Amino acid sequence: MKITDALRAEHIVFHNLFDHIEKQIPRLKNLHAVQAVTSVLEGVLEDHGIVENVLLLEPLETSLGHIGHLENFHEEHEVIDAALQDLRSCGELKRGKQLLLRAVQLSRQHFDKEERVVFPLIEKQLKAKTLNELGARWAEQRDVSATSD
Ligand SMILES: [Fe+2]
Ligand SMILES: [Fe+2]
Repeated sequence: MKITDALRAEHIVFHNLFDHIEKQIPRLKNLHAVQAVTSVLEGVLEDHGIVENVLLLEPLETSLGHIGHLENFHEEHEVIDAALQDLRSCGELKRGKQLLLRAVQLSRQHFDKEERVVFPLIEKQLKAKTLNELGARWAEQRDVSATSD
């Protein structure tokens, strides 16, 4: 399996999670509940971001050097982290809900952009063999079995 297809599959799960969180936000009754949802989101986004940094960005930067799209990609991960960090220190329910919604919206935009721009760029720049090797490393890290296509 190509690394980009593996990450697209992860994205499907995230899009469902984003939809679910958006629907739940109006029902969250206190800051504790907002923080609990934030922790889950933060945890899964962090894992996904690490996998992307190690298995997409580093190989691509090695083969291409510096390109603009990748700088944005790093920056967007940081902007999402910062939004989640603001949530941690927020002491007010209404504001907490707004910040959580903002973090979900930023994440969705970032994921959409990866699907439209970054993954196709990577598929253009790296050889099929490399994409499959990175996919195998992804499967090892995620502890799943995957076959090359
Ligand atoms: Fe990302
Ligand atoms: Fe992603």
